[in-house]
Amino acid sequence: MRSLFMLLGLLALLPALVWSQEKGKVEPVKVVEIKRDTPVLYDKDIEPIFVKKCLVCHSGQIKEGKLDLDSYEGLMKGGKRGKSVIPGKSADSLLYKTCGRTGAPFMPPPKEMNQQPLSPEELAVMKLWIDEGAKAPTGVRVRPKPVVSIPPPGIKSVRGLAVSPDKTLVAAGRGNEIHIYDAASGKHIRSLVDKLETPDKKPVEAAHLSIVEALAFSPDGKLLASGSFQEVKFWDPQTGAMKEKVTGFADHVVALDFSADGKYLATGGGAPSEDGELKVLDVATGKVAVDVKNGHSDTVYGVSFSPDGTKLASCGADKFVKVFEVPSGKFIKSFEGHTHHVLGVGWKADGKLLASGSADKSIKVWDYEKGEQVRTIQGHQNEITRLFFIGKTSQVVTCSGDQTVRFWNVDNGGAVRNFPGSTEYLFAVAVSPDGTVVAAGGGEGVVRLYNGANGQFIKALAPPGEEAPKK
Ligand code: HEC
Repeated sequence: MRSLFMLLGLLALLPALVWSQEKGKVEPVKVVEIKRDTPVLYDKDIEPIFVKKCLVCHSGQIKEGKLDLDSYEGLMKGGKRGKSVIPGKSADSLLYKTCGRTGAPFMPPPKEMNQQPLSPEELAVMKLWIDEGAKAPTGVRVRPKPVVSIPPPGIKSVRGLAVSPDKTLVAAGRGNEIHIYDAASGKHIRSLVDKLETPDKKPVEAAHLSIVEALAFSPDGKLLASGSFQEVKFWDPQTGAMKEKVTGFADHVVALDFSADGKYLATGGGAPSEDGELKVLDVATGKVAVDVKNGHSDTVYGVSFSPDGTKLASCGADKFVKVFEVPSGKFIKSFEGHTHHVLGVGWKADGKLLASGSADKSIKVWDYEKGEQVRTIQGHQNEITRLFFIGKTSQVVTCSGDQTVRFWNVDNGGAVRNFPGSTEYLFAVAVSPDGTVVAAGGGEGVVRLYNGANGQFIKALAPPGEEAPKK
């Protein structure tokens, strides 16, 4: 009995021990006083700090600690620990404590390679803003140029996934790495590596400097495209060689779709709360073939070519699904009805129906010609993060923050299959064209493979060198 109490006592001490260790290594940010004649402005003084040092992990689909720092409203709503800001009381505000590194969790996380803590001046401005009442933005938006944020080596969330058309390979994007697996054995075959260095010239062994947000195999399986901060890369999945790098994107590239003939790659992205970015690349030359300007008023999260390649559907944070002509880039029509970010869109093989999945938890099916909503499909308990049509069928696959992957029939709205087993938020899903190999991944860092024909779990793919869970 006594030893049990001792054990319990030790267990209770453990968090404190870990905490003091962390504290021992990391110095708090120096506290300095600043004097200002004018009030601190959220948009001018505070938001630029978030853009520079926080948004890579706290915006868009990535909301670590359930905290969205992309807007004033998101900041004031707080995260999983509750309110981050108590207006007038910096000392009681989690935001101030985490950034000053006087309270856990230290932000940005100290293990970051390229993430600098707040400077004493930035921290002082933040303190002053909170103490002045944490006032809302006034409308003068001054966004600094986006800079690359490099995730720490251990980051494990899977944000991009792709299954090769012949079902032999699974590609998983974790942090800034891309891991290629043999689908049958589950063995890690190789990691895709480019010659990279940080802005301050430190070598980086990874596929991209920043987070890999999307992956797609070309229809012939000979190329793997990856989207990350301001760039898209084309790889040879068989040799691991980087074939081409296309730059010139405004911000993160978060959505990719090859045309059915493999000639074009559609890309979607853009900085949060700015114009979305929607471009089509000519795969052979790497040149931009279509640049849709002002297509969306916010980040583009999903892109999908019509089956005949003459049109491009897109969706985004502005809640719209839109269709543009290819290659003119001319706007054709838009579909309105979702009440939150639309995170995935796809065309049915007959070209007549579109389906979209949203952070409002619903799937909507649209009649393309009529421009009307056909049905809404409910069932997911949380944000739908990706949606794809399965080959030439009437079925779509979705993954969600509710930790499930599901198949749905868009013709009648029926739920076809449910693939449970994930233990965290799902960001990514991929399905072979024949619907038999399903891969899903998210916050857990594990990719789960399922048999799409019967719903059975096949195996889990862990990060290289780690033990995969048995279920
Ligand atoms: C590399 C990723 C990363 C960066 C960059 C980052 N954070 Fe975080 N943040 C996290 C993670 C992961 C958590 C959850 C940690 C936990 O719960 O222990 C978190 C949690 C938080 C929380 C606690 C939310 C809650 O309610 O639990 C705050 C506040 C926060 N971050 C603020 C910031 C700020 C401000 C910045 C920029 C100065 C920043 N973070 C940069 C990854 C990051």
